[in-house]
Amino acid sequence: MDPVNAAIVYYSATGTVHALAQAAAEGAEKAGAHVRLRKVAELAPPEAINANPAWAQHLRDTADVAQAGIDDLDWADVVLFGTPTRFGTPTSQLKQFIDTVGPLWMQGRLADKVYSAFTASNTAHGGQESTLLGLGNVFYHWGGIIVPPGYTDPIQFQSGNPYGTSHVAGDGPPGEVALEAARYQARRAVNTAAALKAGRAA
Ligand SMILES: Cc1cc2nc3c(=O)[nH]c(=O)nc-3n(C[C@H](O)[C@H](O)[C@H](O)COP(=O)(O)O)c2cc1C
Repeated sequence: MDPVNAAIVYYSATGTVHALAQAAAEGAEKAGAHVRLRKVAELAPPEAINANPAWAQHLRDTADVAQAGIDDLDWADVVLFGTPTRFGTPTSQLKQFIDTVGPLWMQGRLADKVYSAFTASNTAHGGQESTLLGLGNVFYHWGGIIVPPGYTDPIQFQSGNPYGTSHVAGDGPPGEVALEAARYQARRAVNTAAALKAGRAA
């Protein structure tokens, strides 16, 4: 059987979600997937970015990360989306990318793939679940197969979010528990996609 193709599509202003995305990419690779790590386009004006040195620095640091295109979703058997929480919702940058995929959706080419999502917010009750559930609405529209981490691995009892990996950025950069949760989430999504792929090929 061909390996599973996994796209990790994320937005990050100051690096938190980028770190989770890298961990997810590691987890997907360890599970045997071909992986594309892709950032979505930055939409904020330079004056907003430059007013926040951490944002400007992260943009420079990730200049060589390839930008997501709709072909990445077409290619993928499994897609993990990562976004900071903004007022309890995904960022406009990620949503703008999602809003460009209508042509694939119209052809039914987003259906039957595995989807999962991860996020960060500044505070523990700042809307992580509402962001992840909001992305879930998109996956329903696509006819996707949503694979959340649940409490299916011991790491989930430490990280504590069954909807998807999440990190409180106000506590500092993601530590080993959050990174391992992201790796586990990706591994579980890839393993599910592999089982589906094998079943469909049979
Ligand atoms: C416009 C805006 C809205 C935000 N809304 C929330 C929010 O609703 N809840 C929260 O806890 N943090 C909120 N934050 C903080 C971000 O979630 C946090 O900076 C982000 O998760 C860090 O991820 P990054 O380093 O990948 O950019 C907001 C930040 C911005 C700029």
